[in-house]
Amino acid sequence: MLIYLIRRVLLVVLLCCSGLIAHAGEYRPAWRGLHVDVSRHFFEPAVLQQLMDRMAELKYNRLHLHLTDGPGWRLEIKRYPRLTSVGAWRKRLPAGPWDWRKHEIGNHFTECYGGYYTQDDMRRLIAYGAERGIMLVPEIDLPGHAYATLVAYPELAIEPPPGCKLGRDILAVQRPEVRRFVRGVLDEIMELFPQGTPIHLGGDEVDERLLSSEQQRDFMQEMVDYVQSRGYPAITWDEAACNGVRRQWVMLWRAEKYEHVMSLGQPVILSPNSHFYFDYPQSAAEAAPGEHVITTETVRSFRIPDSPHVLGVQANLWTEHIRTPERLFYMAFPRAEVLAEKFISQSVAEQN
Ligand code: ACM
Repeated sequence: MLIYLIRRVLLVVLLCCSGLIAHAGEYRPAWRGLHVDVSRHFFEPAVLQQLMDRMAELKYNRLHLHLTDGPGWRLEIKRYPRLTSVGAWRKRLPAGPWDWRKHEIGNHFTECYGGYYTQDDMRRLIAYGAERGIMLVPEIDLPGHAYATLVAYPELAIEPPPGCKLGRDILAVQRPEVRRFVRGVLDEIMELFPQGTPIHLGGDEVDERLLSSEQQRDFMQEMVDYVQSRGYPAITWDEAACNGVRRQWVMLWRAEKYEHVMSLGQPVILSPNSHFYFDYPQSAAEAAPGEHVITTETVRSFRIPDSPHVLGVQANLWTEHIRTPERLFYMAFPRAEVLAEKFISQSVAEQN
């Protein structure tokens, strides 16, 4: 009995020291997140409120909103009104295979799809989350995934090198006026979200033939430092960290980069696409040939490492193929319930 008690006390001390929150024998990662891509498909504030109700029951505490991407810009920015008057709308296409290049951005089509959150909508959502212990985390994806931005403000786009057939969806961040634009957007985000809210700056999937790794690193580091100096922790996807950007929290999504990212010694939020991409099919019956399946067992099999660098975990819902609230909830649950079981059970159950 004495040995059992000593082991238990040591375990609680260990968990507290490792940056995780331990309450009365429970083990809770500090970051317990769900992510929703509201760019590819837009979800009304009421849907996000419904999702937060469910998240609160399950003790999730972060709702990460992927607010901008190629197919739509979803947050009112008063300095740059065309981001939403133009960038939040696109020609409605029939359901079918997803190819962002087919999405024509603009509000001038007979049948438009889109929508955005006004700043008042966002203030209400922030307050709704806060009442339920959930912090909303905004993401402005930089410097790529910017097609909607660049239809609204074409003068901000890179010029692909002659003969290069790649798309124009990258901000020309080497130009001072483009950095001014980005800082202006971030200023408005910081006016809207309470100080201390982490701001996700994206940083994923930019082709180095179009923007060199040095240009990407220099720009991302400047923006990380810009928000941090104002009291907003910065987050980026793992590409930026692997490319040498420092001082931010890293969101790991490429499972194959796990060892590399963990070796950097920066705070990490784990959302590997091997286990926590909940837009992937949840059973073999739903999967196309060769598609990676993430079942409830896959989620259960993930061990949250006891590392002082790991802030926590997050499941991501990308919405290329999630067009309706019903589908969003169908894809989120029950896998998000299984992930939530881990918040309180994994360590204590497995280590004792
Ligand atoms: C990502 O899935 N590109 C973060």
